[in-house]
Amino acid sequence: MAAFLEIRNVSKSFGTGSSRVEVLKNINLTIEEGEFIAIVGFTGSGKTTLISLIAGLIEPDEGEILLKGKRISGPGPDRGVVFQNYSLLPWLSVAGNVNMAVKQVFPKMKSKERKEHVARYIEMVNLTSALHKMPSELSGGMRQRVSVARALAMDPEILLLDEPLSALDALTRGSLQIEIERIWRESKKTVMLITNDVDEGILLADRVIPLKPGPRATLGTIFPINFKRPRDKATINADENFKKERNAINSYLMELGKFRSASNKKVYHLPQIEPQLPRQKKAIV
Ligand SMILES: Nc1ncnc2c1ncn2[C@@H]1O[C@H](COP(=O)(O)OP(=O)(O)OP(=O)(O)O)[C@@H](O)[C@H]1O
Ligand SMILES: [Mg+2]
Repeated sequence: MAAFLEIRNVSKSFGTGSSRVEVLKNINLTIEEGEFIAIVGFTGSGKTTLISLIAGLIEPDEGEILLKGKRISGPGPDRGVVFQNYSLLPWLSVAGNVNMAVKQVFPKMKSKERKEHVARYIEMVNLTSALHKMPSELSGGMRQRVSVARALAMDPEILLLDEPLSALDALTRGSLQIEIERIWRESKKTVMLITNDVDEGILLADRVIPLKPGPRATLGTIFPINFKRPRDKATINADENFKKERNAINSYLMELGKFRSASNKKVYHLPQIEPQLPRQKKAIV
């Protein structure tokens, strides 16, 4: 049987000639249906590039990505993406944003059924009281919940979360982590979460996989996380195995980081630029 999601020898570069950067090199990963995967990585290492490749927003230079055995060749409703910057339509309410996405994916759904469907997913992210609010009236955490509800309401096969919680304060982040774990259990979706937070990866994922620093980033050692679910932060924090797991992953990342700074000997020559002062206006007498 074909794996659920298979990334095979994927490489991706941007630019041409001397400005060409090989961002990802030979990425290989197999994800099972219903799995929760966390990719942790350094800034600029190619995490968003990886998500965009799976989302079909860009194409690999080499290799291929298969979803249920079928090669990904463009965006599709089978993959729900949540980006860091919320990306809600500002002129539509919470319900309007979710409704619009549902309408695109299920054009034949009757209006009453669609309304119930939208309401169900908004309830799932605890935003029923904000159903008719506009994005500008919402906090960052609430906006991110709408993005999650919108992606889930499209009933995708896999949810791709690109650092959805990074812009949030610690408290909001903590409560949304719990919600994401619950939603994942209830919806039984496959999830790939990009995060810069090792603890978040351990709290949520079945496997934590580091993306090595770029250029030519590849995936590192896979860390399986076996804490029983539902997980809660307090219990996990007090668990000796959690501390061991966290130390192991952090040490691994630190070693990778050292390697990055040692190998990054390139000297950048900056152009001589002087600020241009505005021309003095003649005094009006
Ligand atoms: N469309 C593009 N054109 C040219 N270069 C790009 C493009 N997209 C990404 N890059 C480059 O690829 C590299 C990886 O970018 P990417 O956004 O995937 O990193 P990231 O790990 O998501 O970073 P961050 O932690 O800041 O979100 C960077 O050097 C970036 O400048
Ligand atoms: Mg990114």
